[in-house]
Amino acid sequence: MSLDTQPISMTGPNRAEVVGPKSRDEFQRALRITPGGSMRAAPFFAPHPPYAVSGAGCWITDVDGRKFFDCANNFFSLVHGHAFPPVIEALHRVLDDGTAFGLPTTSESSLAEAIAARSPKLEQVRFTSSGTEAVMYAIKAARAITGRPMIAKFEGAYHGAYDDVEVSLDSTPMNWGDSSPKSVLYARGTPVSTAAEVLVLPYNEPESCRELIRAHHERLAAILVDPLASRVGMVPIEADVREVIQDCCDRYGILLVVDEVVSYRVGYHGAHAAFGFEPDLVALGKIIGGGLPVGAVAGQASHMAIFDHTKGKPAVSHGGTFSANPLSMTAGLAALQAYTKDAVARLNRMGDALRAEITEQLKRRKLPGQVTGISSIFRLHLKNEVIRNYRTSFPSPSQRAALAQVHFAMLERGFLMTPNCSGSLSAPMSETDVHDLAAALVDAIHETWKQSPWE
Ligand SMILES: Cc1ncc(COP(=O)(O)O)c(C=O)c1O
Repeated sequence: MSLDTQPISMTGPNRAEVVGPKSRDEFQRALRITPGGSMRAAPFFAPHPPYAVSGAGCWITDVDGRKFFDCANNFFSLVHGHAFPPVIEALHRVLDDGTAFGLPTTSESSLAEAIAARSPKLEQVRFTSSGTEAVMYAIKAARAITGRPMIAKFEGAYHGAYDDVEVSLDSTPMNWGDSSPKSVLYARGTPVSTAAEVLVLPYNEPESCRELIRAHHERLAAILVDPLASRVGMVPIEADVREVIQDCCDRYGILLVVDEVVSYRVGYHGAHAAFGFEPDLVALGKIIGGGLPVGAVAGQASHMAIFDHTKGKPAVSHGGTFSANPLSMTAGLAALQAYTKDAVARLNRMGDALRAEITEQLKRRKLPGQVTGISSIFRLHLKNEVIRNYRTSFPSPSQRAALAQVHFAMLERGFLMTPNCSGSLSAPMSETDVHDLAAALVDAIHETWKQSPWE
């Protein structure tokens, strides 16, 4: 870690004392004006998260003046860390010219061209304001193109906050069914009919996938795949499953939609290329916005024509008041231009080193746990069993509690991860930082294990 930091070294069980008093006051203020005291559920942890005021490189400063080494990177969306100078300079250059127009701007074509230049599979692009919308439009397009109603997705996979793709997002041993996963509705109020339109596949179980897809193929518009889905365990999709999916899509005329909202960063050409997929449509988001709100659906021009509005009402009408706003486009272009082949390779090497060091240290200290992920992404599991999918990654109650404790113990040490103990590296991090992160994580696991061992 660089020397100008003041890592938090408080210990002790009183969580209210660990997150500073100004953050506590801000949380109380927020509770009066918004349910739950903050605008997003995912970053929440008890008693409440610190409130951020600024970020620079891989550091965040909170309202109490505390600094955190940021491995959450706004949920994998910042590949260059905070306030990346090329992004900030590019934004300064356009800011005075206005922020949103009821007209297209040249910046949208520039970012679309930059995305298309990285993969021949992404011939055309339509921007949205979030990854949720990107997945939603990809599904609408697939249904319109095929004239079929159903989609297939993997058990546990998160694809945004859209009824269909939330199916079986948090199923449990109590309701997930046998080896053919049940379609379990997520949010209360989701129409029951949604379950019938979503086929849930078991991740990394090729033969079950083939059987399930074969049984439903006449009604299937799309198979939705994130090849490195966090909530599935952050384990890469295995080659034989990829082959089954690709084969079923080709054989039955089902569209393959790859959700790369997070996993786009794993390779210069995107995750579909890194994993060898031939996608029909791809959903993007996060890093392609350079830290500003964004999403995109991209794919072959023949499929993307479904959005063409120049000849009257399009088959799928796509809009969005802030879609392709020039700030997101400008920031995204600067971020993508700096994410060169060398930058990708360096971050991926550092990710390999991080996972290898954590694995080695956990073994040496005989602590039950493992770290999954590839490239610059990692996720901690507090079990030794082989993790291949949602069910095998599913934590026991004591593991779940221990993960929350490890997360907080990391915060005490000055490291911010996502509340499920996953994270990503960013370009400003050094090899020493990565070593410090590994050491802190193993130390936090050790401390948690001593206090309350899990099973
Ligand atoms: C794989 C995946 N798809 C889609 C989304 C939705 O993106 P957004 O939060 O921008 O709506 C996310 C968000 O984390 C994601 O992880």
